[in-house]
Amino acid sequence: MTLQLAVLASGNGGNLQAIIDHISRGTLDASLRVVLCNREDAYALTRARKAGITAISLDHRSYATREAFDEAMVRCLQDNGADTVALAGFMRMLSPVFLEAFPQRVLNIHPAILPAFPGVHGAADARNWGVTITGCTVHFVDAIMDHGEVIVQAAVPANPGESLEVLQNRIHAMEHRLYPQALAWLAQNRLCVADRVVRLAPSDRKRAPAPVDALVWPPLEEGF
Ligand code: GRF
Repeated sequence: MTLQLAVLASGNGGNLQAIIDHISRGTLDASLRVVLCNREDAYALTRARKAGITAISLDHRSYATREAFDEAMVRCLQDNGADTVALAGFMRMLSPVFLEAFPQRVLNIHPAILPAFPGVHGAADARNWGVTITGCTVHFVDAIMDHGEVIVQAAVPANPGESLEVLQNRIHAMEHRLYPQALAWLAQNRLCVADRVVRLAPSDRKRAPAPVDALVWPPLEEGF
């Protein structure tokens, strides 16, 4: 069923752009109801406005508590008709006040293979640790940071000697395929969660050619 989607972002909005592009290509069955940022200067707001999408900024510093801010966000998303929330570089933890308003309908993308390297510097932490393989994860969100059930992961090589920027660019390129794909699976009602494990219901959709420089599981489907 068509997702009534809200995207929450704090910065550049590269993942937001990938979502917008897949919706307009018809590969993601979603209506982007609103983009909400906690920073007025987030480039994600500009991307949304350029695409004709309602773009709203709410400054968390104007609210006395995390819960008060979360309540204001819930009101804003519900007023705009959203039933599903994609966090895309949103730099705030969500309280139960928010999560209970959208049960099993909040997703996040993280630039490492969880549960390794959670937190705000996932890609840099993995590189500084010296791993030779890192990647990205799309997961459901719960009240613990980067902790909810894993939907899809990509393993991306970390080549010794390359800059963090080059590594991050390679991870971002995978993120921009994984996130729209995970949302498409949700829209197709194919994600089933039990005991922390997310199962993807099979379909006769064609697989995309596997990326040569990454391992993605479950495999991406045609269009992603
Ligand atoms: C991404 O690397 C994502 O994994 C992390 O924050 C970054 C957001 O980038 N959660 P963008 O704003 O989507 O370009």
